[in-house]
Amino acid sequence: MKLTVIGTGYVGLVTGACLAEMGNAVTCVDVDEQKIARLREGILPIYEPGLETIVTENQKQGRLRFATSLADPGAEAPVYMIAVGTPPGEDGSADLQYVLAVARDIGRRISQYTVVLDKSTVPVGTAERVAGVIRGELQQRGLSVDFDVVSNPEFLKEGDAVQDFMRPDRIIIGSDSERAREVLRELYAPFMRTHERIIFMGVRDAEMTKYAANSMLATKISFMNEIAGLCDRMGVDVENVRLGIGSDSRIGYSFIYPGAGYGGSCFPKDVRALIQMARQTGFEPMLLNAVEARNHAQQRVLYQKILQHFGPQLAGRSFGLWGLSFKPGTDDMREAPSTVLLRDLIASGARVKAYDPAALEVARRDLPRTWFESGQLQLVEQQYDALKGADALVLITEWKPFRHPDFTLVKTLMKSPIVFDGRNQYDPAQLRGLGFTHIGIGRGGEAIT
Ligand code: UDX
Repeated sequence: MKLTVIGTGYVGLVTGACLAEMGNAVTCVDVDEQKIARLREGILPIYEPGLETIVTENQKQGRLRFATSLADPGAEAPVYMIAVGTPPGEDGSADLQYVLAVARDIGRRISQYTVVLDKSTVPVGTAERVAGVIRGELQQRGLSVDFDVVSNPEFLKEGDAVQDFMRPDRIIIGSDSERAREVLRELYAPFMRTHERIIFMGVRDAEMTKYAANSMLATKISFMNEIAGLCDRMGVDVENVRLGIGSDSRIGYSFIYPGAGYGGSCFPKDVRALIQMARQTGFEPMLLNAVEARNHAQQRVLYQKILQHFGPQLAGRSFGLWGLSFKPGTDDMREAPSTVLLRDLIASGARVKAYDPAALEVARRDLPRTWFESGQLQLVEQQYDALKGADALVLITEWKPFRHPDFTLVKTLMKSPIVFDGRNQYDPAQLRGLGFTHIGIGRGGEAIT
């Protein structure tokens, strides 16, 4: 099948490349000329395991091409996928200007039956707005062309994006049009493997499904973070509680890890956008408000624990930070808890040496200049270099190389053997046995009894 994907961000690029890999002829369009020039050379704007090979190989085979505009002669296709960004506006609601601009562009070009897919995470009602814009453009051109706008949200995770796309749990297709459903049944047939994985529903239902899925996962995490806060104060080890409740198949083990709060480009943004959507209907989303508030507080929990341990005077203290990306397996630092901690530590006069297996370049580019210029933040290329002379080690992202470090070496390097374990990676008893003070999340360490 021939298709055109607009937007070469995470979703667009992975979608385009994986659909080409399945034998389709795909054009990926992005207005960023530099990005397109680099993609043509096989240089990717994101760090994603397996993606570079797919992009390079499919370009070589002629199944994947890149263009800077829908006006590109090869970009005309019976299926368009909109995968441009929906950044949060000032009030947290999704800004649809890029989506609607693409809709306008599509409306100016199509001349035969076309399926337009919304792949971006967009508020309920967006497909109808996109259809309205396309219809308006067609009217201006004096044309009557059939088209369908379908909601087809993407559920891939960063770091597992190719695998998630190729082996989806489900594919959500929001459309009442049998004609569009038929086109998409054919497009996604190669991904069905053992059984049918497409769930058809109404277009608004599909739009809500994406927000509900991400908000549900964010809720699980915030719930566990709240329980961890209680465990800390009541002499309970949340790790045992996690195992105890996860064994209930109705609860399950996934997404119940307490930590330093969720981050990334999706959960925080989508929870806030759903809150805004609810408010616009006059409905106060009490639970979502709490999920958001808990996460806000959770991103500062390590700092609170540091203050509790060292007292309010952090000037002259030095911390070794392991992890900068919002989760392992990516260089993405958007809404990363590490940034919140760095801001607090630096504001209170502390010095930080930070290491991350993938995000150093992004950190160097995106973190405030002043943090580096003041000498308070130093990025190091080797994980143990972060610990030299440190008053404490703070683990904030659970990258694999941090899981079983050489603690004897760690202890020799540090000024004092204190570990703030922001992802409960270490066994408190084992660390205590090695002479460390271990402070985790919800390990019962702040018990008043
Ligand atoms: C998420 C959704 O999983 C994906 O389906 C959607 O398409 C986009 O948003 P992603 O942002 O890549 O994907 O990250 P994910 O792996 O889901 O983790 C999100 C955040 O939750 C991370 O900060 C992670 O550290 C945190 N998390 C996750 C926890 O704190 N505890 C957990 O138990 C699980």
